Amino acid sequence: MDVISRPELFDFHGVCMTHYFTDNWEKIQNFQARPDDILIDSYPKAGCTWLSYILDLLCHEQTSIPLFQRVPNLEIAVPSLQKGIIYVARNAKDSVVSYFHYDYMSKIQPEPGDWSCYLQRFMEGKVAFGSWYDHVNGWWEKKQSYPKLHYMFYEDLIEDTGREIDKLCCFLGLSPSAEEKERITSSVQFDVMKKNNTVNLSTVPMYFKRPSFMRKGKVGDWRNHFTVTQDEKFDADYKLKIKNTTLQFRTGI
Ligand code: A3P
Repeated sequence: MDVISRPELFDFHGVCMTHYFTDNWEKIQNFQARPDDILIDSYPKAGCTWLSYILDLLCHEQTSIPLFQRVPNLEIAVPSLQKGIIYVARNAKDSVVSYFHYDYMSKIQPEPGDWSCYLQRFMEGKVAFGSWYDHVNGWWEKKQSYPKLHYMFYEDLIEDTGREIDKLCCFLGLSPSAEEKERITSSVQFDVMKKNNTVNLSTVPMYFKRPSFMRKGKVGDWRNHFTVTQDEKFDADYKLKIKNTTLQFRTGI
């Protein structure tokens, strides 16, 4: 019998959330990091699984990585962290497309409804984990005053995974050999990771038997979903919400 039911969204400290992510909130609030912990975070569908997979291979036993994915409030996590935080962001258009498909396949996400309503709700921050705009912007602003924050972009990882791994190593003070780096770079490519059933979550009961978690892994798939009218409306709304011109996303590479 299927006991997992789709949750409702509710306001949780000003952010839309579902009970699956707030039920044990006191554990997150009381979290105490170990000296070698790194926190990784992202808005949903920005490549957090990819990043954690890369870090896992890079760090071996040297560093522990608590996956406090998508902590809506940075202040909760920061105080006890000594090593730092890695944040990965992805452009809004590909994020909403990926999120839409994910919500269809995941039983622990609210019912997505049709694409045009979903897009509108995303623009209003009425999806789980709230506003994409507040999330990426909040962390971007935090980065200006918090040097232990490494802010990455999904598009950069796609463009040159090796270069982004170098930057990660620099941030974490790691110095893998050239062969090791080459091996890691090859093993985290989309087609290789897609074959890994654990990453692809193909056996997890919270998913419907729909397209896999490793869906497309592309920059620019939004073009296959947005109509011209939706795109214009989205761009106009985007300009109002992302006023900080130093935060730039690429919607194609
Ligand atoms: P798509 O749905 O666009 O394919 P998260 O882990 O934060 O939920 O992000 C999931 C997104 O990252 C999915 O995007 C997934 O395919 C993509 N992804 C995961 N591993 C990847 C890889 N090795 N290369 C490119 N994209 C990857």
